[in-house]
Amino acid sequence: MPSDTRPCPADAAYGAHAKAHPAVATFCDSVSEILRTVDADQIPDEVPNRVAEALGPLLATPDLLCDELRQPSSETYCKHVLYACPDKHFTLLALVWLPGQGTVIHGHTAWGAVGVYAGTPNVACYDCVENDDGRHVVTQTKDILCAPGDTATVRPGLCDVHRIYNASDAPVVTLHAYGLDLIEDPDAINLDLNL
Ligand SMILES: [Fe+2]
Repeated sequence: MPSDTRPCPADAAYGAHAKAHPAVATFCDSVSEILRTVDADQIPDEVPNRVAEALGPLLATPDLLCDELRQPSSETYCKHVLYACPDKHFTLLALVWLPGQGTVIHGHTAWGAVGVYAGTPNVACYDCVENDDGRHVVTQTKDILCAPGDTATVRPGLCDVHRIYNASDAPVVTLHAYGLDLIEDPDAINLDLNL
């Protein structure tokens, strides 16, 4: 199983995690309001930009995550569901990366907004094309060393193929808002490139 398809915890449920900071509810209210004004079948690029902006206060909240919600895994990076929209419009995750942990090269099936809460992850970006035989070919275009407070957005499809990894010697914590439900199918966000 690729490292970026680690399931969400089995006890993940709709609504806010029982130990989620109140700032999570404020953020999710903002996202719901942003989504209320757009067509769910044609999400404009401005949506992930506005959600990334709304991540700012969360990233600046010192006690946002209790010990349980920043627990790592020695196997691969660890996902914690902070909020799952009951209407299945979006999901907010906290991901914890120990030194050396990272994703495979991947794309997404829905919009996303990502922010660095702690540590210094790298994000490698790729151009991706599909050959006549249906195989994907990727070429790295940049590798960005990120810092706490940094945000980025991803669009669905092959236009924002990337890889996140922790090359530092300290844990990394990132927040990820994705425009779909990840309770019924935790892997629904991953676009399989079959590299
Ligand atoms: Fe990703």
